[in-house]
Amino acid sequence: MRDKAIGDILVQPDALRRRVEELGGQITADYAGKDLLLVGVLKGAIFFLADVMRHIDVPCDLDFMAVSSYGSATDSSGVVRILKDLDAPLEGRDVLIVEDIVDSGLTLQYLLRNLGARDPASLEVCALLTKPTRRKVELHARYVGFEIPDRFVIGYGLDYNEKYRNLPYVAAMTDEAVAAAQDAT
Ligand code: IMP
Ligand code: MG
Repeated sequence: MRDKAIGDILVQPDALRRRVEELGGQITADYAGKDLLLVGVLKGAIFFLADVMRHIDVPCDLDFMAVSSYGSATDSSGVVRILKDLDAPLEGRDVLIVEDIVDSGLTLQYLLRNLGARDPASLEVCALLTKPTRRKVELHARYVGFEIPDRFVIGYGLDYNEKYRNLPYVAAMTDEAVAAAQDAT
């Protein structure tokens, strides 16, 4: 796909495939004999979730949450609203939250508190991407795919204004497109 907003490719499809397979192997080893429930955070995590789940070779259930965090187009505020809650209780389950990206960490901090209050047996995070230099809160993700620099990224589930999720790689948005997005808010 050609589009002025698509800049440097930061993670190629091959690298995504290899890393996702590795993470699936680690999760398989760590959750043998457990009661694993994957909680996908809509919508950004769905590509990663579907791919990593194919490499998880222990029984697991799947549930989804949708949250929105107030803020500008490219910055979240930490004020999180639940748009869709889980279908089932978490009590006694080994819960693994699957997220697309940890940026400030505020969304995940909220989710960890909220889901942690529902008495799971364990609660961990699996994130495809992390931007460590952007972190505003201390946060432990047990599984992380790739560390990326402080760039706004699109593709493989990640969107800008709901577009570009279908790109088969993770790309930085161009400076021009980021500037235009900031002017618009
Ligand atoms: P946080 O609360 O700042 O950690 O932001 C988390 C959410 O913001 C992620 O789940 C994404 O939906 C979105 N987000 C953060 N950085 C990016 C990015 O570079 N591209 C697309 N979405 C992003
Ligand atoms: Mg998003």
